[in-house]
Amino acid sequence: MSQKEPAGVSEAAIAVHWQEEAYYHPSTEFIAQANMTDKSIYERFSLDNFPECWKEYADLLDWDQYWHTTLDTSTAPEYKWFVGGKLNASYNCVDRHLGEHKNKAALIYVPEPEDEPHLAITYQELYVRVNEMAALLHDFAGVKAGDRVTIHMPMVPELPVTMLACARLGAIHSVVFGGFSGKACGERISDSGSKVLVTMDAYYRSGRLLEHKSKADEAVKVAANEGVTAEKVLIWQRYPGKYSSDTPPVEGRDFIVNDVIKQYHGQRVEPVSVPAEAPLFLMYTSGTTGRPKGVQHGTGGYLAYTTATSKFVQDIHPNDVYWCMADIGWITGHSYIVYGPLALAATSVIFEGVPTYPDAGRPWRIAEQLDVNIFHTAPTTVRMLRKAGPDEPAKYNYHFKHMTTVGEPIEPEVWKWYYHVVGKGEAAIVDTYWQTETGGFVFTTMPALQGMKPGSAGPAMVGIHPVIYDEDGNEIAAGSGIAGNLCIRNPWPGMLQTIWGDSQRFVSTYFAKYNKNPNSTDWRDWPYFPGDAAVQAADGYFRILGRVDDVINVAGHRLGTKEIESACLLVKEVAEAAVVPVNDEVKGKVPDIYVSLKPGYDASDSIKKAVMQAIDDNIGKIARPAHVYIVSDMPKTRSGKIMRRVLSAISNGTDVGDVTTLANPQVVDEVRGLVQG
Ligand code: WT7
Repeated sequence: MSQKEPAGVSEAAIAVHWQEEAYYHPSTEFIAQANMTDKSIYERFSLDNFPECWKEYADLLDWDQYWHTTLDTSTAPEYKWFVGGKLNASYNCVDRHLGEHKNKAALIYVPEPEDEPHLAITYQELYVRVNEMAALLHDFAGVKAGDRVTIHMPMVPELPVTMLACARLGAIHSVVFGGFSGKACGERISDSGSKVLVTMDAYYRSGRLLEHKSKADEAVKVAANEGVTAEKVLIWQRYPGKYSSDTPPVEGRDFIVNDVIKQYHGQRVEPVSVPAEAPLFLMYTSGTTGRPKGVQHGTGGYLAYTTATSKFVQDIHPNDVYWCMADIGWITGHSYIVYGPLALAATSVIFEGVPTYPDAGRPWRIAEQLDVNIFHTAPTTVRMLRKAGPDEPAKYNYHFKHMTTVGEPIEPEVWKWYYHVVGKGEAAIVDTYWQTETGGFVFTTMPALQGMKPGSAGPAMVGIHPVIYDEDGNEIAAGSGIAGNLCIRNPWPGMLQTIWGDSQRFVSTYFAKYNKNPNSTDWRDWPYFPGDAAVQAADGYFRILGRVDDVINVAGHRLGTKEIESACLLVKEVAEAAVVPVNDEVKGKVPDIYVSLKPGYDASDSIKKAVMQAIDDNIGKIARPAHVYIVSDMPKTRSGKIMRRVLSAISNGTDVGDVTTLANPQVVDEVRGLVQG
């Protein structure tokens, strides 16, 4: 159901007319126990103390060899952090906790079927499993430091086990969201040059055991067509000892992990000590072109950043039961289900299923049973739960001290439901703005230090020095009420190192717009541009207004319009395709698709179905459009450019503005008639 709000070229319109809200303040109980109550941290992390201030973050980790240089800018904007240092991420997330916490749950797995028991994996048990998987990857699959391993798995504990096993070997994992298609996975295998794919036979979603392994066959085929051979496919079983896919393993290529790992019973693998700047993982994300880019994160900088932000912003202590209801296949899950919480010896909950299955009380039953006290989710989920079960939270006896929202702007009235109903008025909320590229939170309130303001992400994180620029690079002052392009003046340890295999794209995507001198090795010349518009209130709080590029944020997931359009063009009848964002009450935005056909073809339901199928096959179900409209022609400028702005206005039921200068203004009424009836 779409809300009739404007959604133009940028998402700015949805947020500018939100009122500035009054502050909410955390309870004295929360403040009394908070990890960060020292206001002077902002001074310690001022630009005067840059970059040495980041030592405070790095010192939360165990280093095999301490570093000598905090920041090396000689290849700016590809920076090196904590140079000279050596460490291992799996050691920091597992081994170092064995002394004090070996019998404490590291992970608690909650399967979707409610009659399946939960599984608590202690740090000792995690240590054993990570070692055995590392031994298998190394000895059986030939994985060594620097190799890439693609992992296409659902939300099961074997996923972090596999990631940490890669990290133990110094190998670079590339996790592909389980809901992505085999084709999307194959393109990522190819781009990263992975020789090994780790997958699972099946998983539960909305009450059904979904077959997953067949996607691996497609992925391997797609990668092979692009010249990259995945030599081994390693398949975890959803039910150990039982194969739950109807697609048989391919002889000589596919191996059941649960069988092979028996050979590695009791094996231990020394964690490989890697340089701080060794890549830890790749995470592919959408941008303005059709090809997703491999965001590369380094070991020392990334781990220090996620550990510190988990500690200070999420207020994680080792005794907390922390539940982030995101998918590990996205950056939120990497940073705030796996690396940050485990580096802090917390208990991190992994939930396989859908929050509203079998009903909207499920999350609160889980919270009650596990006594979760820190909760983390996205506005889209909050909206969904509010719609499906507004009174459910009150029926369950759980108490959160802290809640996070992430991934999209949260409407003030949704924030208030989250605060009063989900949080029962007891929990501090942080609205965290960040992205795949930033590695961790870059804007948020520090929960015990600053009040919460519904609809605002808050000020910048400590050590993040923001600025809003207009199109010409002039600074826009706080409190002016004028929106502009959000930038960060300085580098920080959690930021991406580069785009895998494409330094040029790294520079052009994030820096070219406001770079002062392309040859400079001074970080001051390289403001980072995340691609979002924002407005800063007089109190210094930022409201994020959304993307200014061709990215649509669907339910907190980034989709490139070009990617979706490319998929549509694979349908043989389709001549042109245009994708526009439509406001959606629950998902924030959903794509609407307009296609025109090649001469000689007539509009039909089967073509619409083929378009839907092409999107499922090439990207995944998450990119499914709300509608596919077959139009006789696209509204175009005289130079032939498709006017997506006009289509977007039609989809959202708003004013199309002046269309008289179009090459074919008559098409506008025709399209409007088709869409709005
Ligand atoms: C894009 C990044 C953040 C991890 C999950 C998504 C939007 C993110 C917020 C927020 C308003 C937000 C931005 C950003 N976004 N957080 N708190 N308020 N917008 O990571 O897939 O890389 O997407 O999500 O547009 O650029 P991602």
